[in-house]
Amino acid sequence: MSHTDPKGRPHPLGFWEERYAETPYAYGKEPNDFVREVADRLPKGRVLCLGEGQGRNAVFLAQRGFDVTAMDQSPMGLARAEALAAERGVKITTIAADLAEFMIEPLAFAAIVSVFVHLPQALRREVHQRVMGGLAEGGAYVLEQYGPEQSRYKSGGPEDPDRRPGLDILMEELFRLEFEIAREVVRDVTEGVYHTGLGSTVQILARRQS
Ligand SMILES: C[S@@+](CC[C@H](N)C(=O)[O-])C[C@H]1O[C@@H](n2cnc3c(N)ncnc32)[C@H](O)[C@@H]1O
Repeated sequence: MSHTDPKGRPHPLGFWEERYAETPYAYGKEPNDFVREVADRLPKGRVLCLGEGQGRNAVFLAQRGFDVTAMDQSPMGLARAEALAAERGVKITTIAADLAEFMIEPLAFAAIVSVFVHLPQALRREVHQRVMGGLAEGGAYVLEQYGPEQSRYKSGGPEDPDRRPGLDILMEELFRLEFEIAREVVRDVTEGVYHTGLGSTVQILARRQS
């Protein structure tokens, strides 16, 4: 399923509201594979999950003892996130906001997480500036999204290549961070009903030193 309409524009909020009202959870209740892999490398403290949808990563991290805030433009997604948190016996904070206007508190977060949030190039650059400013010293940024090679696969993601940048572009945008993982992988992306099958993704774990 594409992340854009037939003219290549991002899906409007109504698209996500409808998707997130469906049963079952669109991307599953279990965390993203890369988030699960790196969770032990994140310093304890406050975590901000961007474009967090129905909260699978936020709830997983809350279960691991992090103090998690999940933001997304979709109130329906966040209502499902809160329901999942209640089901798992943890608390998360949710904020409904558009990333175009969402300011990240400076030096506040032990980790910031962005999973399959395919923003237009100009907004992504801006958000990455805010991410670099929002990390506390030693704080980590975790990103996974579909990469340039995803056009060969059918497991999801936007058709617009500007929304599927390669590592070179992402590393340039995140120039203030030190990269512990920066790789492009082809992997089985079976995460809910909308991301299923082989896919080509970029994965980043990067840290703010000072
Ligand atoms: C493919 S879903 C991924 C959801 C979640 N990160 C996950 O891995 O399950 C992309 C999410 O990005 C959110 N998103 C896209 N553009 C956004 C924006 N400008 N502001 C806030 N959220 C946005 C959508 O609402 C949607 O929940």
